[in-house]
Amino acid sequence: MAEELQENFKRGLEGIIAGESKICKVNGAEGKLYYRGYRIEDLAKNCTFEEVTFLLLYLKLPTRKELTAFTKELARMGKLPPAIMKVLKDIAGKATPMDALRTAVSALAGADPDVKNARGDRNLAIGKSLIAKFPTIVTTYYRMSKGLPIVKPDPKLGYAANFLYTVKGKRPTAEEARAIDMDFVLHTEHSFNASTFAVRTTVSTLSDMYSALTTGIGVLKGPLHGGAAQAITEQFEQIGTVENTEPFVMKALANHQKLMGIGHRVYKVYDPRARIMKPEARSFSKRTGDMKWFEMAEIIERVMAREKKLYPNVDFFSAIIYHTMGLDIELTSPVFAIARSSGWVAHALEQYSDNRLIRPLDLYTGPLDLKFIPIDKRK
Ligand code: COA
Repeated sequence: MAEELQENFKRGLEGIIAGESKICKVNGAEGKLYYRGYRIEDLAKNCTFEEVTFLLLYLKLPTRKELTAFTKELARMGKLPPAIMKVLKDIAGKATPMDALRTAVSALAGADPDVKNARGDRNLAIGKSLIAKFPTIVTTYYRMSKGLPIVKPDPKLGYAANFLYTVKGKRPTAEEARAIDMDFVLHTEHSFNASTFAVRTTVSTLSDMYSALTTGIGVLKGPLHGGAAQAITEQFEQIGTVENTEPFVMKALANHQKLMGIGHRVYKVYDPRARIMKPEARSFSKRTGDMKWFEMAEIIERVMAREKKLYPNVDFFSAIIYHTMGLDIELTSPVFAIARSSGWVAHALEQYSDNRLIRPLDLYTGPLDLKFIPIDKRK
């Protein structure tokens, strides 16, 4: 039995199938990605974030009428209750926007008297309300922390464009709005990644939707997951010049350091999302006349493919787009959390609908049957 268990053990659960799902297919060997059976290339090119969120939550693409109603519903649900505004005010300037988001999502449970009895459609409603509130929390908190006036969303703009508008206080250009929408679509879902699995684990104890998404934010924050986007920006800043890029990469490899934005647990070929994002990053850089980061990215990509056969992940090029749009570095992880919120909700609903407590085993490697020494005799 012990040997059998040992054989099944995989560090970091690599390659282990931990549950069934009808939401997303990641084909890591061929670099293919599908949401609810649709190819990511088709969705990223043709759909808004709201359209893809509808697909994830309702299992079908919306008609135009359904999409209009859903877009309005999300816009209506974005407003924050006064209790949450107070929480944000209390921590303004002290916490990072990612920590503020985690705190506010947790606090929202306190503002929902119904949370204990939430089932079925009520969970769907809470999920939609959270998806709607994520950007409001981030942009409200960000502007509060900077002492800037809060900007109300523009009903003529969609979810992703409104994020840019309410954070910067300036309406995005059509290209910026389209690029951020595409970025949200590409980030919204990715099967059993660490944060989504954590969301499902929380739900599997029949805990509530607020707790599940709070867990998701906490797990996403780490630099090996959603925090990578921020670490990539820091890396570009640290490298500094195009000339310094190859020496920087070679030195990092010699010192066994990881290059941020490179590699992926599941994709062993080019990340299909990075393939979609790269031309966007190139054209944005061209438009702003600042090609430095893009040129540095191409060098990192070339050297890592040559030296390690590792390729960029989606965040590598997103970081360049955020930079050219002038988004503050501390917003990079919250942007990922906002985009991922609908994937988390879809997984939470799927887990609620067919639940089994997630409780794996560990391979115990400590001692056994130690001699017990009473407290007064211990040295
Ligand atoms: N830079 C340099 N080497 C890397 C690397 C990177 N970004 N990613 C993986 N490697 C190397 C490891 O050093 C290791 O090499 P070795 O076998 O010679 O020791 C090998 O590839 C396997 O790495 P490992 O960390 O075990 O793979 P993983 O499946 O756990 O890695 C990530 C997946 C994403 C955690 C990893 O690629 C990484 O840390 N990337 C940087 C962070 C990042 O961009 N995260 C965002 C993910 S969307």
